[in-house]
Amino acid sequence: MKITFCCTDAKPEPWLQGLSAALPGADISVWQPGAPQADYAVVWAPPQQFMDEQPALKALFNIGAGVDALLKLRLPPQARVVRLDDAGMAVQMAEYVCHAVIRHFREFNGYEADMAAGRWGYRKPRLRSDFPIGVMGLGVLGERVAKALAQFDFPVNGWSRSPKAIEGVRAFSGTEQFNDFLAASRVLVNLLPLTPDTTDVINKDTLARLQPGAYVINVARGAHLVEEDLLAAIASGHVAGATLDVFRTEPLPKGHAFWNHPQITITPHTSARTLREESIAQIARKIGALQRGEAIAGVVDPVRGY
Ligand code: NAP
Ligand code: GLV
Repeated sequence: MKITFCCTDAKPEPWLQGLSAALPGADISVWQPGAPQADYAVVWAPPQQFMDEQPALKALFNIGAGVDALLKLRLPPQARVVRLDDAGMAVQMAEYVCHAVIRHFREFNGYEADMAAGRWGYRKPRLRSDFPIGVMGLGVLGERVAKALAQFDFPVNGWSRSPKAIEGVRAFSGTEQFNDFLAASRVLVNLLPLTPDTTDVINKDTLARLQPGAYVINVARGAHLVEEDLLAAIASGHVAGATLDVFRTEPLPKGHAFWNHPQITITPHTSARTLREESIAQIARKIGALQRGEAIAGVVDPVRGY
């Protein structure tokens, strides 16, 4: 069995060592143009040339949850695309989003400014009932995030394509319930996959439908957010601020309005990182299952786009 590795942004040696240890007997190497045909590929943002030269692949293992970049390529027609299924990302996403919500709710920015100014000042406690949170996307990551927020007793709404029943979460689904979901929410958390249906989903209209004093947390993809609409909604006072981990252009260009905005906190696409050991263990398990002809979880539906 041959496995080829083609991941931009990942040092190949530790991946190759880990995969070799987990799959003894497999022939694993880093892809280069002209490399022999492989059975399986471990990839992140590979070039089109890689796909064109590997028509015999049975499965492509993406070392991330989001497959939007991969699905833009012409893929070998019979190759299954397999996303990382949690692999340690869901808990990271839960801690990132809970941190952002609590930081905003408890006004820690204000306390930090007070400390810098040498001021000892209390703020009036806010009511959780005034902070309903709406989580868009209730998949592997969104469900974990919604449940974690509910543990802090925030009212939590969730929106997905198909109806869900998640304890502690008021579930909305489909385009017909989208406006009701927004109207019921003040903090908007985005955990949707990037597809043609979800591109630009956080826009002027969406933001206007949130409750006043809204807050936006985008941890999915930059192209979900119309950046100038967010800036305008903050300037109008309807949106109080945002925590953003992903951007239309990454790295965020120098001079971009988000860098120095007092109501926006940014991080460099780091809310849920790929953990190498967990990922290798999951990929190796799935390759083993495919070799035995068994079904695996995390196979992407290319028509649905996630
Ligand atoms: P997932 O398991 O595929 O779940 C996607 C969820 O979105 C599902 O609940 C799905 O509904 C819902 N959805 C999809 N299209 C929809 C639509 N048109 N309308 C309403 N709901 C829709 O994805 P995940 O693993 O939770 O990950 C979500 C995204 O997070 C990834 O695609 C990736 O872009 C991003 N991500 C970011 C980072 C980071 O570090 N910033 C790290 C990992 C992932 P159904 O349940 O009904 O199918
Ligand atoms: C990271 O953004 C991922 O999709 O895993």
